[in-house]
Amino acid sequence: MERTVGNARILVTGGAGLIGSNLVEVLLAQNNEVVVLDNFMTGKRENLAPFADNPAFTLIEGDIRDMAICRKAVAGMDYVLHEAALGSVPRSIKDPMTSTEVNISGFVNMLFAAQEAKVKRFVYAASSSTYGDSKSLPKVEDKIGKPLSPYAITKYVDELFAENFSRTYGIETIGLRYFNVFGRRQDPYGAYAAVIPKFVMSLMKHESPLINGDGNYSRDFTYVDNVIQANQLALLADKPEAINTVYNVAFGERTTLNELFEYLRSNLAKLDPEIGKIEAQHGSNRQGDIPHSLACIDKARTLLGYEPLFDIKRGLEQATRWYFDNL
Ligand SMILES: NC(=O)c1ccc[n+]([C@@H]2O[C@H](COP(=O)([O-])OP(=O)(O)OC[C@H]3O[C@@H](n4cnc5c(N)ncnc54)[C@H](O)[C@@H]3O)[C@@H](O)[C@H]2O)c1
Repeated sequence: MERTVGNARILVTGGAGLIGSNLVEVLLAQNNEVVVLDNFMTGKRENLAPFADNPAFTLIEGDIRDMAICRKAVAGMDYVLHEAALGSVPRSIKDPMTSTEVNISGFVNMLFAAQEAKVKRFVYAASSSTYGDSKSLPKVEDKIGKPLSPYAITKYVDELFAENFSRTYGIETIGLRYFNVFGRRQDPYGAYAAVIPKFVMSLMKHESPLINGDGNYSRDFTYVDNVIQANQLALLADKPEAINTVYNVAFGERTTLNELFEYLRSNLAKLDPEIGKIEAQHGSNRQGDIPHSLACIDKARTLLGYEPLFDIKRGLEQATRWYFDNL
């Protein structure tokens, strides 16, 4: 049986982004009242356009670095799903100051405002980048390495604050360490676009995608619907040992960049046969990137009942179809 939250008031920070906008869509469909706090730094207004006329939806345009806005946004909320952050390892290497302000100071603002407002639970976006230089595979929650980028540091510091605040102030928190999420509405444009929308855009323009390195680096690519399921379950978790902790959120399989390119090319070639002839180019490896990433999802399975329904192939079919129809 599907386990979902309904009839609750839920704040989704970063609701105009990939993960946030997909959460908003599902939460509204399940009869929740949803407030979004977003400053559109990387998110898009069009991602929220479908909900604009829904009376259960409210947009607060503002910045999580502004404590007064955070307090306004959490007022009267049952739950917070905190997705707002500046993603991208390269962005954080180029401008560590802004990533730190948003991802750490903004995070602390939201967490503190949430405990003041006595929300029932604060579920937040953590990251697989926290595994840093740890070589062990699959990644298990309690074995992390040294962070390899400012972004990874910010995400780990968030976990430390969440754990500390749950002990100090009694706020319930759950961190979800997402692994390379993809899906509808993920931004394909700009210098910091993620690999899947970037490859899709290149292929749709009949250009050769650039693979960093020889293409044998691998990732546990996670379709956004699996992430939504994990968030729902995190809101519902009731065992004490399931709360105030972090979970890997992934599918639990790894795919190389070369395989990813093959899947995308063959999916898109069904819609535009010319794409089937395109080859990838290879460049150098990117600073701060780890060679391989694969999640052990046993903890989420056991304590949350997480059962991801979309493997990479099924997820890519959905995502490529969406890009083909919408771009
Ligand atoms: N996508 C992934 O693969 C992935 C992996 C690990 C963790 N995460 C984390 O998941 C969360 C959501 O990621 P996403 O992929 O949806 O990213 P996204 O960039 O699509 O969405 C982030 C949203 O946060 C908003 N935002 C940024 N700074 C803000 C600020 N100062 N105040 C208010 N809003 C602000 C943006 O405008 C955007 O709408 C982030 O915390 C990210 O670090 C994502």
